[in-house]
Amino acid sequence: MPFKILTPEEAAEYVHHNTTVAFSGFTPAGSPKVISKAIAEKAKKEHEAGREFKIGMITGASTGDSLDGELARANAVKFRTPYQSNKDMRGAINNGHVEYFDMHLSALAQEMRYGFFGEIDVAIIEAADITPNGEVVLTSGVGISPTATKLAKKVIIELNSNHPKFIKGLHDIYQPLDPPYRKSIPVYSPDARIGEPVLRIDPSKIMGIVETNAPDEVGGFAPVDEVTQKIGDNVANFLAGELAKGTIPKEFLPIQSGVGNIANAVLGSLGKNPGIPPFRMYTEVIQDAVIELMRNGDITFASGCSLTVSPDVLKDIYGDFDFFKDKLVLRPQEISNNPEIVRQLGLITINTAIEADIFGNINSTHVLGTKMMNGIGGSGDFTRNSFLSIFTCPSVAKGGSISAIVPMVSHEDHSEHSVKVIITEQGVADLRGKSPRQRAEAIIENCVHPDYKETLKEYLEVTSGHPQTPQALDRVFNMHSEFMTSGDMRNTKW
Ligand code: COA
Repeated sequence: MPFKILTPEEAAEYVHHNTTVAFSGFTPAGSPKVISKAIAEKAKKEHEAGREFKIGMITGASTGDSLDGELARANAVKFRTPYQSNKDMRGAINNGHVEYFDMHLSALAQEMRYGFFGEIDVAIIEAADITPNGEVVLTSGVGISPTATKLAKKVIIELNSNHPKFIKGLHDIYQPLDPPYRKSIPVYSPDARIGEPVLRIDPSKIMGIVETNAPDEVGGFAPVDEVTQKIGDNVANFLAGELAKGTIPKEFLPIQSGVGNIANAVLGSLGKNPGIPPFRMYTEVIQDAVIELMRNGDITFASGCSLTVSPDVLKDIYGDFDFFKDKLVLRPQEISNNPEIVRQLGLITINTAIEADIFGNINSTHVLGTKMMNGIGGSGDFTRNSFLSIFTCPSVAKGGSISAIVPMVSHEDHSEHSVKVIITEQGVADLRGKSPRQRAEAIIENCVHPDYKETLKEYLEVTSGHPQTPQALDRVFNMHSEFMTSGDMRNTKW
């Protein structure tokens, strides 16, 4: 092997104050785990010595604690994009220590190539295998690795033996040309393979290899409770009804499902519903529930950007790879989340909202309009281009003191023009073919928690002077300001 074996500390020597680093992986799956810790340690020493040390940090999506958590706690991040979900990184962003820009995940690789973020100095890439001529087998997440390694001046490989070499073939690495040379992307079915099983990196850029066997830091899911079960069942029954009505083709359509506990519960319900045939997924994150449904024959194929599964489930996949290898493919995020392909395949997309308004606008990212939660992730890539876009959320948060449905969202990620159906544990509001007033009536009637129904009906009455879009701009955030003063939206007056 022509590449030097480095310690994590030696690898960290390639990273300096103001270095822009692009990291592999997507979610904790496939993200580097040991070089990042060494960079954090270096940052702490530099700070102790009175010197500045902050890096620009570009990733595929969220990462594990060894990357986002360690660097945030070391105050080692100047800017961060495109998505995160780590408690300490979230804190650093909301305290103003990190400049965070929240991006559609499908757009990131292209914007890096356009040079919108400046030069990429170093790429740190987790690999299952590497050949002397720089052919790399990636691990459980692909993310932006193809673009990161193409653009970076220097590449460091974190070779992780926790991922066996025989997974070669799990990945489909394809990079579109940039305009004006771009051609259509020939993914006409979720299982289409259009690229190569390996990532080719110019060997002259590879500074060395750090060896590890650290597992992906994927947490488990909260057990399905009464609310998430009801949301899941409402989604499954709605889709089964649409299929029976013929508004979804009888062959069914591929599913995209978002991240988190609700998404996991929704998938479980889809699998159990006798009105839904075995289906395929074209999604971003392949979670535990997908693998369980694959075992049962309820999901026949899943295309994603990462295998974000808990350690035992990953062991199960690798231990029975002959069963799984023809049922899974991992793609770069500019392909897994590509708007052109989403529209082409006619996806049914199911994502989670923090807050919705009575007209169907969705806030996926901000608590009370100011505190960043995670980021928009792929929800916009999928929602805007879907065949049928669904948003789910519990009707209330924080023990009922917050209604997830308000007159106007405190931050807007997805507009009423892209959102077709809203589903809570209370029921389903189908917004297709409805005017703003009709949407408001459907959402209040079907999705709002009983504690807030009268309050929102009263809002519609006080705004009745505006029959097309009933809004009162002087009162539209009364529910939010009530929560900020009394701690309970149930006290709201108009
Ligand atoms: N106001 C204030 N807080 C609210 C709220 C509201 N309207 N609605 C929810 N919350 C709080 C909850 O109480 C909870 O906080 P807690 O942990 O302190 O109790 C938190 O927000 C959300 O709970 P969480 O368990 O993280 O929910 P989840 O795992 O279902 O995730 C999202 C929900 C919206 C945060 C998550 O789906 C996300 O980041 N989405 C954006 C990206 C995306 O959709 N990607 C998918 C594309 S493939």
